[in-house]
Amino acid sequence: MIELTSGTQMPEIGFGTGSATTEAMVSALHAGYRLLDTAQMYGNEAEVGDAVRLSGVDRAEVFVATKLNNGNHDPVAVRETFAKSLETLGFDYVDLFLMHWPMPMLDVDYVDTFKAMLQLTEDGRARAVGVSNFTPAQLERLIDATGETPAVNQVEMHPYFPNDEVRSFCRESGIVVQAWSPLARTDQFGDAVLTGIAQRLGVSTAQVMLRWHLQRGVVAIPKSNSPERIAMNRDIYSFELGEADMAAITALDKGEDGRRGGHPDTFTG
Ligand SMILES: NC(=O)c1ccc[n+]([C@@H]2O[C@H](COP(=O)([O-])OP(=O)(O)OC[C@H]3O[C@@H](n4cnc5c(N)ncnc54)[C@H](OP(=O)(O)O)[C@@H]3O)[C@@H](O)[C@H]2O)c1
Repeated sequence: MIELTSGTQMPEIGFGTGSATTEAMVSALHAGYRLLDTAQMYGNEAEVGDAVRLSGVDRAEVFVATKLNNGNHDPVAVRETFAKSLETLGFDYVDLFLMHWPMPMLDVDYVDTFKAMLQLTEDGRARAVGVSNFTPAQLERLIDATGETPAVNQVEMHPYFPNDEVRSFCRESGIVVQAWSPLARTDQFGDAVLTGIAQRLGVSTAQVMLRWHLQRGVVAIPKSNSPERIAMNRDIYSFELGEADMAAITALDKGEDGRRGGHPDTFTG
């Protein structure tokens, strides 16, 4: 478990529910995952709530995170849509509420959006609040303006895009980093460095990538609809990557060319 600045504990690997089926979410809970990552944008908060109830796992044992959609940055919309998220999930609190994208081009300043999100922690309906897809400059501005540090920054991260500038800033500021697309949606499974390490260690390329995240102190949230792959992605504690392997993977960095998703300065969703 990893302790957030809010004092709450977060598992060190999670399950990404974007485009996951309810069956896959239940399967993940049965395989031992205790962190489910959803978002207003995914339109699956009802399924996430159902999956927790269907699994038989106690709600209190599951760390549930959802995210504010890009059209909901106005402080009134923050409050209204957060209440709607809780209703759709069927829960009276979430463990983490993230701002999905900074959206600096909006008339509403993300500082004001974050202030409204912070208020949701006051009555415990959000146990912690954080952001997603924030650059160091945006994080710095947010922290300076609010005096509060987001508990988490969830960003794109995989071997071709280690996003080390963000990771370093977050580590220095006490912000826990979560990696989205931690498997780069399978695009790097043919990479010779990754497959070479996987073959030598007798594990899959996916497991090598997820172990790399874990050893970097990053919380990966892989998605899969296959029970076998769901179990495999959590089975990363029986081997270790040596320093040379860690460095070789990080050296696959392609800079901005490695980025698959939008840029935080310009992405409008
Ligand atoms: N904050 C953001 O802006 C943001 C953006 C994107 C995603 N996310 C979150 O991050 C989560 C994960 O990201 P992602 O879904 O983009 O990418 P990902 O987890 O890197 O990759 C998912 C893909 O990999 C396949 N896969 C998973 N495990 C595998 C394995 N062991 N072997 C072979 N293939 C495997 C899955 O196929 P199968 O299902 O067929 O196994 C799926 O096609 C999302 O679900 C979402 O919760 C957040």
